[in-house]
Amino acid sequence: MQHQYIQDFAQYEDGTEITVKGWIDKVRNSKTNHFFDFRDGTGFTQCVVSIDAVGEEAFELAKNLSLESSAAFSGKLIRNERSLGGYEIQVSSFEIYHIAKDFPITKEDKEHGPNFLEEHRHLWLRRRRQWAINRVRNQLIMGIHDFFQQDGFVQMDAPLLTGSACEGTTDLFETDFFGQPAYLSQSGQLYAEAMSMAMNKVYTFGPTFRSEKSNTPRHLAEFWMIEPEVAFATNETNMVLIERFVKHVISRVLEKCTIEFEMLGRDTSKLQAVVEGEFPQVAYTEAVKILNGSIDVDGKNAITLQEEDLRAAKNLIEAHKTDIAEREKAIKAGMKKGARKHNEKLIAKMLSEIKVAEEQVRNIPEWIESAKNFKEGEDFGSSDETVLTRVFSTPVMVYNWPAKIKAFYMKEVDGNPDYVKGVDLLAPDGFGEIIGGSERETDINILLKKIEEHQLDQADFEWYLDLRRFGSVPHAGFGLGLERLVRWSCDLHHVRETIPFPRRYGHIKP
Ligand code: 4AD
Ligand code: MG
Repeated sequence: MQHQYIQDFAQYEDGTEITVKGWIDKVRNSKTNHFFDFRDGTGFTQCVVSIDAVGEEAFELAKNLSLESSAAFSGKLIRNERSLGGYEIQVSSFEIYHIAKDFPITKEDKEHGPNFLEEHRHLWLRRRRQWAINRVRNQLIMGIHDFFQQDGFVQMDAPLLTGSACEGTTDLFETDFFGQPAYLSQSGQLYAEAMSMAMNKVYTFGPTFRSEKSNTPRHLAEFWMIEPEVAFATNETNMVLIERFVKHVISRVLEKCTIEFEMLGRDTSKLQAVVEGEFPQVAYTEAVKILNGSIDVDGKNAITLQEEDLRAAKNLIEAHKTDIAEREKAIKAGMKKGARKHNEKLIAKMLSEIKVAEEQVRNIPEWIESAKNFKEGEDFGSSDETVLTRVFSTPVMVYNWPAKIKAFYMKEVDGNPDYVKGVDLLAPDGFGEIIGGSERETDINILLKKIEEHQLDQADFEWYLDLRRFGSVPHAGFGLGLERLVRWSCDLHHVRETIPFPRRYGHIKP
């Protein structure tokens, strides 16, 4: 039987007979009608099975269609603004594929809690929010390819089994390669460098692995990284590329993912500001001064802003609590059902805002302490990134980092070997680092010294050093963490929602 997809509904005339195949997303039964929110994977619609249209027997049968049961519905497609997805199907016949008994995810995500959901990831993926996120992820991926392909880059695949470390030896997953130790790749960069001497502009797009024992909202053990590498590029041109690239992919999702962002409650005006704004470039040493409050940006002081945020959070909690108490009192005194429902909804909303504010009240004082005491030469922690980026409305590029905290391959700053030409792109609103890149060291003697300092085995890097022996040229590149980008674009608290099956510290199933 021919069937239609929800995503194509706009092309059909009102009243067209259609068939959809999918799953029951929500059920509401009355004596004479079953209302099904229905998902076919391409979208959501409402299917109405009424006793008058299908007859008593079929109507009874349709009663069995529980949450996540699968079925095909046939009937008239009717435009209905108030209905889910703007359409409704007045069902004349249906076919049941499977009746799902007791689908485990029934409540709001919050009520189930993150552990339960992560354990049921294979089923959690069916929920609307996850549907929206995975579609944004898909468009980001397409936007990434689109950008590089239009710009003349060649996509290359770097190996996943590697014989040496790229980003330091502390977080390597070791495995056995025919009796020899091998590692899951932390980054395709070194191979991209080799390829860029053959093809000039290249990019990798593949999985990377870090055995970081970090149970944080932004660390995965397996994540997807996009690593462009450009011959004859410097860190300055690298930064220009980063800005064009990020703006391109963000504009694409703004254009393609209206429905998804709406479902996620994403404030898209913030992403619009990213596309329209200019990404500031701030040297590390200057960033430290912004962070500890000794210099302002456009009249904004990082520490003062945190103090203001703290006060605002405290005020919100107090105001909401008073408001809630008044509404609860009024509800108790007696209220019509509609008004009561409305007030209860408002109360629930305020309670969740209070939770967020309470979290801020707990965190901000620590963040301020850490920011004020930040020592030049250290790496920014996640709270430092939050405090620093708070003064900007677009992502900010921090460049020229202390050599000590960066990888061996980064080029020394001319005349100042304590610093290297690295660049991190920090996303606003607490999302922090989403890109890390650099101009690469071309001086073979400096590289040899760095390899030794980083306690790496020179023999493992002879092939890499060949790139400096034969037609060495200035070159630069960067790495974007796809899940970090998804997290920021969709405004998600945790990376566990950014990839279909997250692998992170302590979590490998399902
Ligand atoms: O800053 P990183 O470690 O840089 C590199 O790997 C370079 N080789 C890139 C290059 O110049 N070609 O990682 C790059 C990005 C980070 O900015 C972050 O977005 C992401 O990869 N990333 C992670 N994402 C999720 N979980 C982790 N554990 C991540 N570690 C890095
Ligand atoms: Mg980094």
